[in-house]
Amino acid sequence: MNKKITIAIDGFSSTGKSTVAKQLAKELGYVYVDTGAMYRAVTLYALRKNFISEQDFDKKALVADLPAVKLKFIFNPEVGFGEMYLNDENIEKEIRQMEVSQYVSKVAAVPEVREMLVAQQQEMGKEKGIVMDGRDIGTVVFPDAELKIFMTASAEERAQRRFKELSERGEDVTYKEVLENVQERDLLDTTRKDSPLIKAKDAKEIDNSHLTLTGQFERIMDLYRATITN
Ligand code: DC
Repeated sequence: MNKKITIAIDGFSSTGKSTVAKQLAKELGYVYVDTGAMYRAVTLYALRKNFISEQDFDKKALVADLPAVKLKFIFNPEVGFGEMYLNDENIEKEIRQMEVSQYVSKVAAVPEVREMLVAQQQEMGKEKGIVMDGRDIGTVVFPDAELKIFMTASAEERAQRRFKELSERGEDVTYKEVLENVQERDLLDTTRKDSPLIKAKDAKEIDNSHLTLTGQFERIMDLYRATITN
């Protein structure tokens, strides 16, 4: 049997990281962890508690309440991956809504939030045989991951994909709003003080603006095979 490794997939929002990460986990029989879902879950909690709104963000109140935020992934065989639970409630759908997307970068910039989630992610990946996607997996969570991928695509291409996804789900958004959200999140994610989104030195970059899903998956599988035979 092949030795189990840690696969870290980082990159900008809506680059299709989670699609390819799930596919890879399935192919290899690995556990898949969507760390963005964890930041989104904390954001949903903050919204429900009115800690965050367009006007202000009561970081102190959120940080004080963090021990009450219990996160769990529970595998759903029907969809083939672990769904996000917040205090025993399945919130997989709610965390994908535009309102959560609008605030998540602010919540993800709070050092205490990152500290709590990074510790949980490291615990989940202790046994290896894991594909984890996010922004800081190869740099902070698992700096020793055997395979690190950094995914990019143009902001317009990503906004187009996200707009299609949201429209298909019946959300009332325009392409312009989605593009602005993508650009704003890119800026916040790359410029925040704590663990900004950067490519790890040893990560392999894949620009998928012009790659099909199959093409992209094959590239990553080649990288995986090269890693385990080294
Ligand atoms: O991957 P996503 O779009 O679901 O991530 C949601 C937000 O969470 C994104 O704006 C950046 C943040 N995030 C992060 O800061 N670190 C991670 N490891 C994963 C996501």
